[in-house]
Amino acid sequence: MVAAKKLVLGASVLIVFSTGCYYDNKETMYGASSCDTTNVTYSQKIAPLINQKCIGCHSAASATAGVDLSSYNQVVKYGQTKQLQGTINQLPGYESKLMPPGAKLDNCNLSLVDIWLRKGMPQ
Ligand code: HEC
Repeated sequence: MVAAKKLVLGASVLIVFSTGCYYDNKETMYGASSCDTTNVTYSQKIAPLINQKCIGCHSAASATAGVDLSSYNQVVKYGQTKQLQGTINQLPGYESKLMPPGAKLDNCNLSLVDIWLRKGMPQ
């Protein structure tokens, strides 16, 4: 009896959860493109984002302001100091340091970084 109840509860939670993900992926939420918030790991989602949006100024060979974002360990370092989230979201203290400069990331990319940080920055 108890086991059956737990199963029903588990199933409803699962349904609510997957419905949530479904709506998160809806195009309406982020405009024309869809936002895939599954498998938010460094290699799957964060490295491609950084390679597209940040590496031009923050590679190992050309680390603007001394900031090198070319490897997992380096990016984790800036996640730990909160400089990563500070700059991309213009948090207090970073108002004048939006990254990338003059071109705020779209909501999908901001969510991906946020999810990744909340998950403990999985590799
Ligand atoms: C067009 C070049 C350019 C791009 C692209 C760029 N940055 Fe920067 N970044 C800079 C410059 C210049 C500074 C120094 C800013 C300052 O000190 O005012 C900087 C500084 C930083 C800092 C240190 C901020 C601090 O003072 O604490 C971080 C962290 C950072 N960038 C992250 C990123 C991330 C993450 C991206 C991609 C989402 C990115 N940057 C994209 C040029 C760039």
